[in-house]
Amino acid sequence: MGIKMIVLNTPEDVGSFAADLFELEIKARPACVLGLATGSTPLPLYRQLVARCKEGRIDFSRVRTFNLDEYEGLAPDHPQSYRRFMQENLFDHINIKPENTHVPDGLAADPEAMFADYERQIADCGGVDVQLLGIGHDGHIGFNEPGEAFELGTHCVDLKPETIEANKRFFEGNEDLVPKQAYTMGIKTIMQARKVLMVANGKDKAEIVKKAFFGPVTPEVPASILQMHPDFILVGDEEALSLI
Ligand code: GLP
Repeated sequence: MGIKMIVLNTPEDVGSFAADLFELEIKARPACVLGLATGSTPLPLYRQLVARCKEGRIDFSRVRTFNLDEYEGLAPDHPQSYRRFMQENLFDHINIKPENTHVPDGLAADPEAMFADYERQIADCGGVDVQLLGIGHDGHIGFNEPGEAFELGTHCVDLKPETIEANKRFFEGNEDLVPKQAYTMGIKTIMQARKVLMVANGKDKAEIVKKAFFGPVTPEVPASILQMHPDFILVGDEEALSLI
């Protein structure tokens, strides 16, 4: 086991490295299953994937994707929904089939049934080949907040005040507009991916990166469980990895 860590100069370099890894995966397995993430950290990667698709280097026509999470109560076309984020930053610009992209449904009438269905669809596709992750300042992955049980699949979470605070920048700076719950793949879902790639950039992630990967494995730091994953790579810029 042991964690692989790669330190690069800039967020753009992190994006290029992650794009190389995705490109290799898609070339080796054209119908691969990618687990995708939102947040600002994956954006350079998504820009690279769009560029490489336009250049004809990557063909997404058989690729399937499953996103980690979605806000509860947001419609797919809500400006801050993660479905919309994925459309605008990736799906609308590559040759992926819409029916091959999956994001938990923020408006599900029966969330429990939607969770079971999401897990079943991942299993029907043969499981996730490469799961992309960012990391929250409190160590959350997807929306698995500190204290969440490791053994959960896709489920509903109450967002922590710090997460609402960190994400209010996307909601006109008004935390009252930020949904208080979200639907997320669980730690179990994430750990079942064959390969996990975390991207982390910036000084403000340095503390939590150190805590998650050089501290004890504990539900209080959800990302720490990745120390136990057989194929985990952390790719970060110099600032994010400056304390390790
Ligand atoms: C949100 C997402 C996470 C993401 C985190 C960090 O809470 N649910 O998946 O990793 O934000 O985002 P950023 O990359 O913008 O720091």
